[in-house]
This record gives sequence, C-alpha cells and structure tokens, in this order.
Amino acid sequence: MLLIYPKFLYHKRLKTMSDLFTQLEPTEQPLKLAQQQIDELTARLIEYNYYYHNNNQSLISDEEYDQLFRQLQQLEQQYPQLRWNNSPTQTVGFTPQTAFKQLTHQIPMLSLNNIFSTLDKDDTHSRHVELLQFLQRTQDAVAAESIEYIASPKYDGVAISLIYQHGTLKHAITRGDGFSGEDVTLNIKTIKNIPHKLNADIAPQLLEVRGEVLIKTADFMQLNKLQQQLGLKLYANARNLAAGSIRQLDASITATRPLHFFAYAISQNSHAENYSTFWQQLELLNQLGFDTGQQWLKLCANFADLVTYYENMLHQRATMPFGIDGVVYKVNSIAKQQQLGFVMRAPRFAIAHKFPAEEQKSQIIDIQVQVGRTGALTPVATITPITVGGVMVSHATLHNQEEITRKDIRLHDFVMVRRAGDVIPEIVRVLQDERPANSQEFMMPSTCPICGAHIIKEEHETILRCSGGLFCDAQKKQTITHFASKLAMNIDGLGEKIVEQLVDLNLVNNVADLYQLHIGQLEVLDRFGKKSATNLINAIQNSKHTTLSRLIYALGIRHVGEATAKDLAKTFGNLDNLMAANTTELMLVNDVGKIVAQSIVDFFAEKHNRDIIYRLKELGVNYREQSNASKYHELISGKTFVISGTMVNFSREQIKQTLEEFGAKVASSVSAKTDCLIVGNEPGSKFDKATQLKIKIIDESEFLTILGVTK
Ligand code: IVH
Repeated sequence: MLLIYPKFLYHKRLKTMSDLFTQLEPTEQPLKLAQQQIDELTARLIEYNYYYHNNNQSLISDEEYDQLFRQLQQLEQQYPQLRWNNSPTQTVGFTPQTAFKQLTHQIPMLSLNNIFSTLDKDDTHSRHVELLQFLQRTQDAVAAESIEYIASPKYDGVAISLIYQHGTLKHAITRGDGFSGEDVTLNIKTIKNIPHKLNADIAPQLLEVRGEVLIKTADFMQLNKLQQQLGLKLYANARNLAAGSIRQLDASITATRPLHFFAYAISQNSHAENYSTFWQQLELLNQLGFDTGQQWLKLCANFADLVTYYENMLHQRATMPFGIDGVVYKVNSIAKQQQLGFVMRAPRFAIAHKFPAEEQKSQIIDIQVQVGRTGALTPVATITPITVGGVMVSHATLHNQEEITRKDIRLHDFVMVRRAGDVIPEIVRVLQDERPANSQEFMMPSTCPICGAHIIKEEHETILRCSGGLFCDAQKKQTITHFASKLAMNIDGLGEKIVEQLVDLNLVNNVADLYQLHIGQLEVLDRFGKKSATNLINAIQNSKHTTLSRLIYALGIRHVGEATAKDLAKTFGNLDNLMAANTTELMLVNDVGKIVAQSIVDFFAEKHNRDIIYRLKELGVNYREQSNASKYHELISGKTFVISGTMVNFSREQIKQTLEEFGAKVASSVSAKTDCLIVGNEPGSKFDKATQLKIKIIDESEFLTILGVTK
C-alpha cells in the first residue's frame, strides 16, 4: 500500500487538473502544456523522492534528478499560478515511515539550493556563472562589499540531527520531511565517533548538532569483499548502505556497519551569543570531539578562492576517503546569516555547488572495433553526445565480447554511461525497459577491420588480436604514436592525427623513417606551414639524444611499461646486452616474469624489429651508456635528490630519469633526508628549506658537469 502512495496522490490530483483544462480556450494552450509538464515532473520527482527517502533507493542518477528539479523550478517560476503547494520544489524529503517514533524538529532541517558549473568552458567566469550570480545575490542582499565564506565538502551521506541536553546525547533524528523525522537514537549511539557525553566544562546546556552519516569508501569496499567471500549480495553504493543502516529496526545490525559522522553545523546552542562566526561554531564542535572534516574546510574571501576550492575538490574527488557530490559554501558571519534568512526550503546564506554527474544516460548509435598497438581489438560504442563528469563524451568502451554479452549491450540501446576521473568512459548498464525495437546484437568480427588479417584469441585471454602485426596500418600508426609519446622519445607535436597522415601518405612506414623526414614532405600535411614543419623536424632531431630506458620503452615491446624499461636499462646498461639476453637473465630483473621475459626475447628475435633498431642507430639515435656510469655512480647512487625550479637544457623529468638510472632516489619535497637539491630558475620554497637545513644545493650546469655532459 505504502509503495503506491505517491502515484495515487499524483493521479488524484491530475484528474482534477485535467477537468479544469477541458474548458480552456485555444489561447490558453501554452498554459495547458505547462501544466502537463509540471504534472509530469512533479509526479516523477515525488516518486523518486519516495524511493530515495523511504526505500534508500535511487531510481535515477543525481544529475538527472537535479535536471528535472530545475525544469520544474523554472516552469513554476514562469507560471506561479500552476505551482502546487506540496510541489517537490517546496518540500524537503518525504513523509517518514512509521516504524520509528516521530520527533518534531525544533528548527526545520532544510535543504540547500544547488548551483552547477560548465567545466568545458575556458575561463573561470564562464565556467562558474552560477557561482558569480549567487555571490552577487548574497552581496546585494546584505549590501556588503565582501563576504567571507566557509567552504566544505558536500558529504554524500544521510542527514542527522543530534540533540544534547546538559552534555548528554538525548535524541538523534533523521531529516524526514524537514519538519519531523524518525527517532533513530539507539542506532546512532552505535556510531563510534559520535560522543554520548560532551565535555561538561564547555558543553552548552542545549546543543543541536547537524551533520551527515556516511560509510568511508575503504570500509565500504572491505564490507563488500566480505559479502563476496560469504557468497552474499554486494551492496550497490555506500550512501544507500549508510541510509539503510541507520534505519535498521535492530540496532545490533547498525552496530556492525562502519558508519562515520561528520558534523557540519550547529542549529541550536543555548550559548549562541558567544559565537559570532560559523568558524567559531565549528571550533566548538572540534573541541567537543566531533569530526568536522577540518582538513577539508577552507575560509574563502572571494570568487577566486571559492573556484580554487571547488576545482581542487573536484580533482580530489576520486581519491577522497569518502563520497562527496559537491561542496557547500556558507556565509561565515552569523549576523549576516540571520540577515539573509531563508526562502521556503533552503537558506539564502548557503549553497551547494554540485559536481557534475559521473553517470549519464545516452544511446548507442554505432559500434566500431578499434585496433590497438599490440593488435588488441576493442569494441567502442559511438553514443549520442552527453556531458558526464563535466566533460563531453561521444564514445564509450565496451571492453570485449564477454562484457558485451554479460551486460547484454546492443546497438541502439539506451545506456547509462560512466566516466570516473581520467578513465575512458564506459557503459554501466543497459536500460532494458527502454530497449528500442530496432536494437541489434553485436558480435566481434573474425577478421581485422583494418587490414583483413585473421583474428587470434590467446589462451586464458579475453582479448582478441589482429594477426597482421606491423603490416596492419592500425598497429603501425599506434606503434609510431607510442614511440613519439611524452614518456618515450618525447617528440613534441607528433600526435595521433599527424602520424595518421604520415602513414596514409606513405611517408612513414616505421619509427626509423621518422628520422629521414624533411621539411618539404611535412608542408603538405593538413594545417601545416613552413614553421610548423620546421618545428616538428627539430623536435624529431632533438629526440635523437635520449636515455636507454626511454628508448626501450619507445620500442613498444608488449608488457614492457615505463617502470620495466627503467629496470631493464639499469640492469643491461646498453641495448646490445638487452638484445642478447635470454629469458633466464631477463627474469632476474625486477618484476620481470616468464611472460614479460618471453615477450622481450620474441621482440628481438623478430628480424624486422632488429633491422629497425640498427637503422635507428645509423640515423643517429643515441643514449648515454649505463656502463660508463661508474664514475657518477659513487656521486649519485643511493643518494636522495630533490629537483626544483625550471631547467634550461633538460626537463625536470629527464633529470629525474637520469638520476634514477644512476641509482638515486628522487623525492618531491626537501627534508632532513635530502642529500642534494638541484635548482633551476625560480626554485621557490624548496630552496629556502634546503638552505635552512644546510643541504647541498647545485644548479643545472653543475649537475651536468658532474655527469660530464656538455650541451
Ligand atoms: S549545511 C542550513 N553542509 O546536503 C544548512 N549540508 O542537499 C544545512 N550536506 O540538507 C546544510 N554536506 O544533509 C551542509 N557540508 C555540508 C553538507 C551538507 C552534506 C547535506 C545536508 C543538506 C543536504 C542538501
């Protein structure tokens, strides 16, 4: 019965509304349309709210919810006469369930208004227009020149209010509908970082603390690992689990859940007059033993500070120890907070600056198979463009056939797309209910879509590979792009697009050909002039002087990443030694197992590869041999270096690599353990610290002299 409650409510209302519209004149059609939209949005939001608050279940992504919410807000603003008193824009949460005792909030537990950013814009003002508007609004309302804000993470958990009387925790109440919530005191008392008794010397007679209960990411993962070991169902996400945990009727179940409480505000304080700023209130909370997430709080004086805070937190989001879905800014002055007051469901003195969603809906319009450097085939979906996590996305990886089958992904399906950090966007799930009639199953091809060679599947591998090797244009292009990449030969300006043209025009067939290119050949390329052609030729020529580890990495041997290349360079000292090594010798190297060793031996056994290496040498590609290193060895090996400032001849990365090749450690900050600081121009605070600690400081040219390098 409870489950159909929101729908029931909605239909009842709709009926009366449509009765009303039967008598409308044609000129009133837009109004009718608006009402229909308002009704539909209202019904959907009520249903989502209901599931979210009563079943701890999210039927749609947060961003989709926010979008619908905003649409409704806009329509209601345009047609205030159509706004329903109980509209989701005017209410908070949902009517609480009856299993727990209901308690009234002395001070309503309100929600926050949201603002968003468009992160693909270049300048900060265009990116954060809504923040600028909020700041302007606030400033106008209090007629102040500048206002101080406290920025904090927006915890993705469950709101709780804690009431302490004479220093003792008396009640813990959920938000409920904002006016009354559920008495979950017994459950909340099982949370380890919530004090039951407060320090009597400083606790006010009455104190109401508001905050968020959540489960930290590491704890959530651990819990799911346990579930898996026990063969039990995995929990979908930390927020829903936290919500479910505090609403357990049996508190002993709550006690087994690793819940954590972050306090974000005081809503009642019998000694309120002692506090004139929000910051002071937070300090009181700290002194009383609450976790206020202090290390993430920041006092911000202006737009620039807030933007820096937002962008830093967004950047840090994936590595934060708990889930956050945005940041919150609150006016620091309590007097100004009071002056600003509230509008319906939210305070005017605070705002939630939400992060862009990392999951978004789209449709698959095509599926293509890409061929990677090692011939691996990857199915990639072209999707209708969407913004996910603030970035435009039009492709998503489908990984491999097994994934496609497991997720039952078909052409034309509607899907949820996820993008987390720098990871390639992927499809989380298919919206089965919305599967269109023209959806088509997809099967990986049996021949390479680029060169037509047959496809092989290695034992114990899910990945399919093209057997065409470097005869396959796709593999050729990727091999050359990899060779030129930053951590390999670092040929500035030689990216995928240019390599594509060079191969298609038959100017380059392998990596050695790059060193025989001349300016005239490059001038014919798309958007190339004499200047860009000269720059690229210079970059190619400069890359000839490199390090052994870069060269090994650049060759693109399967399973040999940057770290392994460094270890191989250190052990073998030169390319001839490495080429002559057998699997047993190779396996003596750090992290080199049977598969990697075999892959290296196979690579050099291939005549084509050996020919290219000889040609590279003939064309002047060279590196400092590690075997000549002994004289530097003593000076550098085993020592800890720090590099600071801008170098003239080499990049910091190159210096770091050289030091590491000679067995030094390169640290990122100066400490008592640092042996030497290498400084370039404008070295900054590391220089001061090293001077203070009396650590040896040398500049770039001194460093080069030690190495015997003249440039
Ligand atoms: S302050 C009157 N600060 O987000 C101001 N709320 O979407 C009350 N939330 O109701 C809220 N982190 O449950 C505030 N650092 C934070 C928060 C935070 C999460 C929750 C809170 C609020 C909801 C609004």
